[in-house]
Amino acid sequence: MSTSRPIPRSQLGALVRELPKAEVHLHLEGCIPSPVWLAAAERHGMTCPLPLVDGRPEITSLQALLDHLDWACSLVDRAEDLRAIALATSQHLDRSGALHADVIFNPTHWPHWRERAAEMVGELSAGFDEAERAGGATVNLCWSLNRRQSEAEANDVVDWLLAERAERVVGLSIDGNEAAGSNNERFAGAFRRAADAGLRRCAHAGESSGPGGVWEAIELLGAERIDHGVRCVEEPALVRELARRRIPLDVCPTSNVVLGVAESIAAHPVEALRRAGVRVSVNTDDPELYGIELAGEYEACAAEFRWGARQLGEVARTSIEASFASEDRKAAMLERLESFLEATIGGT
Ligand code: HPA
Ligand code: ZN
Repeated sequence: MSTSRPIPRSQLGALVRELPKAEVHLHLEGCIPSPVWLAAAERHGMTCPLPLVDGRPEITSLQALLDHLDWACSLVDRAEDLRAIALATSQHLDRSGALHADVIFNPTHWPHWRERAAEMVGELSAGFDEAERAGGATVNLCWSLNRRQSEAEANDVVDWLLAERAERVVGLSIDGNEAAGSNNERFAGAFRRAADAGLRRCAHAGESSGPGGVWEAIELLGAERIDHGVRCVEEPALVRELARRRIPLDVCPTSNVVLGVAESIAAHPVEALRRAGVRVSVNTDDPELYGIELAGEYEACAAEFRWGARQLGEVARTSIEASFASEDRKAAMLERLESFLEATIGGT
């Protein structure tokens, strides 16, 4: 039976935590627990350039966030720290009932590892293996280009991905600040080569770029999913196209509020887009920097937009379907989701 009655607030927290789901917009760099980089800073005799609030750097713009990531990740030079970051990422997923994640990592933030990518991926994989063996979420990695990189560097990355074929690295991504230009033409060839070789593709767009960035991510980069994408709302024809082509948006509500893309959760376009038929998932982006949990993002949206079982089920289903997990893994997760919805809230 279909129901979309709002869920009582007293039941919502537990329900969204248990809801089977995937997280498809999550940066490794945004999952570094503060104690890890604070200890690394102390070892290097450095202090955080930003003021700390509740032990977290005070971040109010995308550029400040990216600068902080450059600084914090540059301190991480020990393999054991990479494993600890992978474990912390898995724990973040497990706390919110996420069964799978596609984790974005951008080696341009990590000077100690940039030329040692195989070692970096190996250490991260060892951490994720350990968590998976203990029953944690399955994790894939997507190597992310920085929009400031050159065409040659982007092609070098694809060369590496194709030569190594590291089991866990299933996709190519692109992130960074589009304020100084999206430069998508520069990356089109690398994305085309990745697609031809069977790699999955996602792209940040429609956060620091407007609708034009989203169009280019689809047309020039062949992105299968758009990270953020929410500024598509500024162009109704684009919203209709995203709905028609069933291209999912990997939405991060709190991130958008903190970085000034949306004024508040109440004013966030995720609900208008969902109602317009665009497939949306809910994600955290950089949970350690914002002090948030994935389940909390679902809860905030459900409370604000009066999502009931039908809407929560739909968003969770999109998160799984949009993920780059294997078809078998997706089928198993979808089955768990449908059983959960049936048992807990009477089906969707
Ligand atoms: N946008 C672009 N680049 C990023 C982000 C983001 O939200 N988080 C980490 N790198
Ligand atoms: Zn992001």
